[in-house]
Amino acid sequence: MQKLLIKGGKKLSGSISISGSKNATLPILASTIFSKRITLSNVPMVKDIFTMAQLLEFIGLKIFLNKKNNSLKIFNKKRNLNTLAPYKLVKTMRAGILVLGPLLAKYRSAKISLPGGCAIGTRPVDLHLFALKKLGAKFKIKNGYIFATAKSGLKGNKINFPKISVGATENAVLAGFWAKGRTVLTNCAIEPEIIDLINFLKKLGGKIKVVKRKIVIDGVNTVKNISYRIMFDRIELGTYMIAGALAGNKLILNKVDPKIIKTEIKFLKKMGVKLLIKKDKVVLTKSKNLRSISLKTNPYPGFPTDLQAQMMVLMTKAKGVSKIQETIFENRFMHVPELRRMGAIIKINKNIAEIHGPTRLSGAEIMATDLRASVCLVLAGISAENRTIINRIYHLDRGYSNLEKKLRKCKATIRRI
Ligand code: EPZ
Repeated sequence: MQKLLIKGGKKLSGSISISGSKNATLPILASTIFSKRITLSNVPMVKDIFTMAQLLEFIGLKIFLNKKNNSLKIFNKKRNLNTLAPYKLVKTMRAGILVLGPLLAKYRSAKISLPGGCAIGTRPVDLHLFALKKLGAKFKIKNGYIFATAKSGLKGNKINFPKISVGATENAVLAGFWAKGRTVLTNCAIEPEIIDLINFLKKLGGKIKVVKRKIVIDGVNTVKNISYRIMFDRIELGTYMIAGALAGNKLILNKVDPKIIKTEIKFLKKMGVKLLIKKDKVVLTKSKNLRSISLKTNPYPGFPTDLQAQMMVLMTKAKGVSKIQETIFENRFMHVPELRRMGAIIKINKNIAEIHGPTRLSGAEIMATDLRASVCLVLAGISAENRTIINRIYHLDRGYSNLEKKLRKCKATIRRI
């Protein structure tokens, strides 16, 4: 089993190019079920993308991956695809559920494995099914699979989501893209990755409008062959911004659009983090005397749950009591016991974490539990005294492209053993 070994206390300086967004690429890949010939650039070369590519190949698409220039070519030549998403692929990557909408819309049936729970929460898919039912789909759950049919095809409808969900919004947008007539979605998630999916679908030939939390889609039945550049990964950017705030001398983060991360910038500035915002880059300089703050995770444009764990590490360095209220997932404080082993003083009361600072973190052997918890432990290791060993780092490879290489380039001592 691979581990990460980090020698803490090194100051970071240099520049990092932020990769393309994993969470934007995944639904865009699912949407290639509608397409014929697509080229995607700025694709992050991470495990979840490889798993989604494997799933699409299983379904019958041809995928050519160019790891050197971060691009993917997708050919969809078969008239009839295999409409099955098997357990072995969906269990390792929940985004597999995103092929449900496209398969149902185009092929009128699908058999998709139910993803099951994961480390951060139970993560049901009831809202995905609720939306697709409104478009005319019928479902049966048997042997751990969703058997979905839409005998006479999906038809546009009005769907008001009872709760905001990124994945359910994406599945509904994908289904509405090919459904007959107009689909109107309200109380939608409007994460930048969803806007990227919509921009991709529009280039493909889609007729889609977004007004606040409302998405209006007029279904189409033809598509163009296109090339598309995936947006930058705002969570990767946020992660390295926090690395810079924790241990940076001067850290330059390139190939980004800072307008998308206004909320993260606001909270970091409130803590006293020194950052300079340029058109397509963020520059971090040495931050001193960090202040405690309180924040709540929320759907976009709120503070992202995917940056909560990393922010907690920074809060251990701030003077006073900081608070984080996690409102998206019910079990997203799995990193706390590991941070405590490194000396952090964190109290948990239901979904609120109270972080007492400033504390000195000291290296320890620790265990990663999910993607963002893993990277938070890397940040803790970088800012801690002595040596940190992180176990179960396969979680990191699901979503961070070239993490060690990028950090080593900025003078961190980190290696895989
Ligand atoms: C997406 O997951 C992201 N994944 C997650 O990123 C991210 O944490 C999450 O959105 C929230 O921003 C991808 O984009 C691939 P949700 P998703 O549906 O779509 C509940 C990462 O680290 N819910 O918005 O699964 C759900 O349990 C990952 O990169 C239902 O109740 O999230 C949660 O409490 C982890 N029923 C809340 O809604 C449903 O049918 C929000 O989940 C669906 C969701």
